[in-house]
Amino acid sequence: MTRLKSSILFYVTICLSIVHLTFGKTTNYHVISLIDNAKTAMAVVVDDKPYSLHVTPESALLHIGSAPKAKKGYYYAIIKRDQVQNETMVLLEHEPFVRSLPAGGNTTPNEFYNRSRNSFDITPIPKVLDPLPFIDRIKSKLHQPGQIATIHIVGPQDQIDHMHKKSKKDIQVMTNVTYISLNDVQTFTGVEFEISGRFSREAAKSSYNLKIPKKQNLYGYRRLKLRSMATDPSYVREDLGYKMLAAAGVPTTYSSFVRVFINNEPIGLFGFIENFKNPWLRNEFANGNKDGYDQGHLYQGKFTNAKAKFLGNRVSDLSYEGPKEWKYDLGQYKIKEDPSQGQPSYQPLIALTKFISEAPNNGTEAAMHEWNQHFDMESVLRGMALEMVLGFGDGIMAMSDNYYLYQESSTSERFIFILSDVDISFGSNNLIKRELINTGDWHQFAGDITKRPLMGKVLAVPEFKQRFDDLIKYLGNCLLNPDTLSRTIDDTVAMISEDVAWDKSCERVTKAAVISQVNLAVFAKVFGLLKGYAVDDSTVRDFRKRSKKDIPLQKAINGPTGYKSLMGLKEYITVKHNNIATYYGGSQQQ
Ligand SMILES: *[C@@H]1O[C@H](CO)[C@@H](O)[C@H](O)[C@H]1NC(C)=O
Ligand SMILES: *[C@@H]1O[C@H](CO)[C@@H](O)[C@H](O)[C@H]1NC(C)=O
Ligand SMILES: *[C@@H]1O[C@H](CO)[C@@H](O)[C@H](O)[C@H]1NC(C)=O
Ligand SMILES: *[C@@H]1O[C@H](CO)[C@@H](O)[C@H](O)[C@H]1NC(C)=O
Repeated sequence: MTRLKSSILFYVTICLSIVHLTFGKTTNYHVISLIDNAKTAMAVVVDDKPYSLHVTPESALLHIGSAPKAKKGYYYAIIKRDQVQNETMVLLEHEPFVRSLPAGGNTTPNEFYNRSRNSFDITPIPKVLDPLPFIDRIKSKLHQPGQIATIHIVGPQDQIDHMHKKSKKDIQVMTNVTYISLNDVQTFTGVEFEISGRFSREAAKSSYNLKIPKKQNLYGYRRLKLRSMATDPSYVREDLGYKMLAAAGVPTTYSSFVRVFINNEPIGLFGFIENFKNPWLRNEFANGNKDGYDQGHLYQGKFTNAKAKFLGNRVSDLSYEGPKEWKYDLGQYKIKEDPSQGQPSYQPLIALTKFISEAPNNGTEAAMHEWNQHFDMESVLRGMALEMVLGFGDGIMAMSDNYYLYQESSTSERFIFILSDVDISFGSNNLIKRELINTGDWHQFAGDITKRPLMGKVLAVPEFKQRFDDLIKYLGNCLLNPDTLSRTIDDTVAMISEDVAWDKSCERVTKAAVISQVNLAVFAKVFGLLKGYAVDDSTVRDFRKRSKKDIPLQKAINGPTGYKSLMGLKEYITVKHNNIATYYGGSQQQ
């Protein structure tokens, strides 16, 4: 009886709220669109009748207005400015599809002009390993799955042009940035805007850093990266890579996509990730708590640069170069974040490299204990196994590049290993031959990984070698699984495909050299020869050639692409999955 009563009550409540809602006669429409606001305006066409919208004070891209609640449907259009008051306004252009109102219908989210859907269901990647115990990440709405937010950067155009013209220099421009997601609009003032990256600075589409000043933040973060995805015609590799790192329980940025505008120019579709700069460390390891969190040094491994090359051929391979700090401070390493106590220095890194050079390589309890005093070994072994499984072609094992070492506290001698910048991955190679990346046998991976100090020593310890093998076998089977990943990839491609077409139509604003990555090639060549890295000339040439060509999205996803430096994303996953299974004697999968 009670159950029947309560369900009747529930039914009546529902009906009343429906009656209540349908009595509200208007809807607030919100659309994001870059138009010439002086000459044109946005309108919403509701049940075939147009109503003009007005620009919001928050952003010149966001147009809102009230109009009748759509019964059949609605779509957005562009009209002439001088017709906003005109009942018979003429549409200059309009969306080629009809939208329907969300439940309730009193307001729309911030919709994007000419995108047929606001949000998508993205199949998540199943967690395959527990997060490492020291990870204590804040809950944040920074990366909303299935949604593409919009970022509008507003600043002095002359300075921004100058920055794009001198893209190889470190130039910062002060800007105001508005972030618009489906249900939120936030504006930040005094945001430092700069081109990021090293070897990618000559690409026509730049990557950028944003630095929000203290006391402001976007869902807990202040340092963000806009990744151009310029080397990846599938647009999915980095996003997938970071999601897989998270699923394997290692510290990493999470990832999403954003549309970027600078002043009155559409710039394109970008990957949106966290820069490992404060407050990132405490967000990742201390649930965002500043009080009482004793932060250690964060060192970045950057391979090498001209100075480090000429002063002793130094690369960030964790070789012990003796006790003098300057030998580590030539640009091959960088102190990315200072410790919360004491002066920043290379001493803790030097102590670590000294340990590695003298480290015990036998399998006794005592030796393992000693390694664990200096490294969180599970973070090292998972990181290396992931590099192998995901095929990072310019990571620590392949090129002594793109990694971070985080000192657990300002006085600790123990480090956590972190991977970064995973764009050269999943069969996209810029330096190393694909066969050496696709292999299922880590002895072959990227040439010989045991030639470098760290993995040479680590893999000489039988227990670590066993764990490394187990991890590669397990991750190759469960994480690099063609069936589960295909769903995530297809969902992501469905979400971004209209934006990829838009991205390709955006004029590129970086005016520097058109020859992309030529420095990288020259550099890598010299170092490949000098330091025994497996740099392959023909892969480098092929990479440069295809960087200038358009490769259609579906071809980049499925392959084959016709370029030896680029496999289809799914093609790589199947090949590598099978190669690992074959090497470890497991079953194969098509
Ligand atoms: C309204 O627009 C129509 C079509 O462009 C035009 O002929 C008419 O003169 C306009 N009326 C006013 C009051 O501006
Ligand atoms: C709208 O989208 C269609 C299909 O994606 C495209 O062909 C058209 O150029 C777009 N129009 C504008 C104004 O962006
Ligand atoms: C940013 O916004 C502030 C406050 O509205 C304004 O004073 C300043 O001129 C703006 N800066 C830029 C670069 O537009
Ligand atoms: C293993 O290495 C440690 C540290 O170098 C050393 O003290 C120990 O004697 C070694 N044990 C064996 C069995 O070689």
